[in-house]
Amino acid sequence: MAKVKKAYFCRECGYDTAKWLGKCPSCGAWNSFAEEVIAAPSSVPALVASKAVEPARPQKVQEIECGKTVRIDTGNCELNRVLGGGVVPGSLILLGGEPGIGKSTLSLQLALTNNGMTTLYVSGEESAEQIRLRADRIGINNENCTVYAETLLENVVAQIDTLRPDIVVIDSIQTMASSLLESSPGSVSQIRECAATLLKYAKSTGTAIFIIGHITKEGTIAGPKVLEHIVDVVLQFEGDNNSTYRILRGIKNRFGATFEIGVFEMTGKGLKCVDNPSEILLTHYAEPLSGVAVGATVDGVRPYLIEVQALVSQAAYGTPQRNTTGFDARRMNMLLAVIEKRVGLKMFQKDVFLNFAGGFKVADTGLDLAVVAAVLSSYFDTPLRDGLCLAGEIGLSGEVRPAQRTDQRVAEAARLGFKRIIISGYAPKMQQKVEGIEVVRIHSVSELAANIFERQTDIED
Ligand code: TYD
Ligand code: MG
Repeated sequence: MAKVKKAYFCRECGYDTAKWLGKCPSCGAWNSFAEEVIAAPSSVPALVASKAVEPARPQKVQEIECGKTVRIDTGNCELNRVLGGGVVPGSLILLGGEPGIGKSTLSLQLALTNNGMTTLYVSGEESAEQIRLRADRIGINNENCTVYAETLLENVVAQIDTLRPDIVVIDSIQTMASSLLESSPGSVSQIRECAATLLKYAKSTGTAIFIIGHITKEGTIAGPKVLEHIVDVVLQFEGDNNSTYRILRGIKNRFGATFEIGVFEMTGKGLKCVDNPSEILLTHYAEPLSGVAVGATVDGVRPYLIEVQALVSQAAYGTPQRNTTGFDARRMNMLLAVIEKRVGLKMFQKDVFLNFAGGFKVADTGLDLAVVAAVLSSYFDTPLRDGLCLAGEIGLSGEVRPAQRTDQRVAEAARLGFKRIIISGYAPKMQQKVEGIEVVRIHSVSELAANIFERQTDIED
């Protein structure tokens, strides 16, 4: 009997070795190697290699013929935006995200889009009935969408060959397995084999293939990380399970830019595109509240306004509590230290809680001014001026530095009817004058208090 061949694979990056190692030489992860059974290489006829392949011919760059790529409109404006204008035929797209975030929902909506394309939805996780129920819930009926509940790669490939769909969804790569390998589904070798086979099919038939991949909270499970090198596009679905908003982010895109984001809202009838994130992230209160500031932020190239809420209260114990949701806690501590030193407020005696609306996580230093304004507003228990918005980064010396793409932030604030925006005095002159909004420039955080409150006397402490 042939000897069973085993190898060790790094769960982080897919590096393989014959012997167990404590530290991966490729990605540096510790204790990430797992043993997997693989058949002897001689008995693994690569699926497509059996077909004779014509050798490629080197060509001069100018001589390479390229037709204009016609992108397939997915019928979903946010998805199109992240993909750079639609799906490129023959591309392999990885959609990653934590369990329950909505990957299956988004891809089923894509498969059900009524735009004349034929789609195949392969599910290894749910039965055909479950998918039918989900489709009913989403409420789109499309006779060009075929559902196939199967986990064996060879059968899936055979169906792709017969049906020749324009778009295929594989839900998920962790459940697919090739009979050529003996390791279990979800192992590094299976994931790699399945992805490589699907890649060859995508390229040779011009079918765009969406692969769904799970990641855990720690990002430890094998799969997406191993796949990132193979696929053309990596999309990441993010969001807080307690909130209904989801962000689709491009991490890698061979056919477009990666700085676009798509915003969705999970509703009872599937995912809805959110064209205007600012509108959902701002609340119109009956009367002005203290501790609330509006920041103009940019995620990728997309500007939107977000509400920052702060609560500053007297600390009951020796060490004050500092809590943030959606904002980096270390950055907040730094900003509080700047307030203490440059504005002269006794922050060391205060508990500070900070919250961003909609469960959004924003890693934009351009929101520093809004965070500090919210903290000051709560500290003095005084609402900010009506129609005020802020965009600027704060340095350790208390200087206000220009936020990236300040022009876009100002334009977005003006579009949403804000009357005044505070930005850095060091920001370059606006290329275009924005109508209807007063732009206030400040150089230091010590000037902030004088500009954000209605009456100066309010804040005499
Ligand atoms: P799902 O797409 O199955 O997540 P994933 O494939 O990423 O694991 O769905 C995630 C959640 O969305 C699930 O808990 C139920 C919810 N959901 C809705 O709120 N509305 C809907 O219309 C659908 C289809 C799902
Ligand atoms: Mg799913």
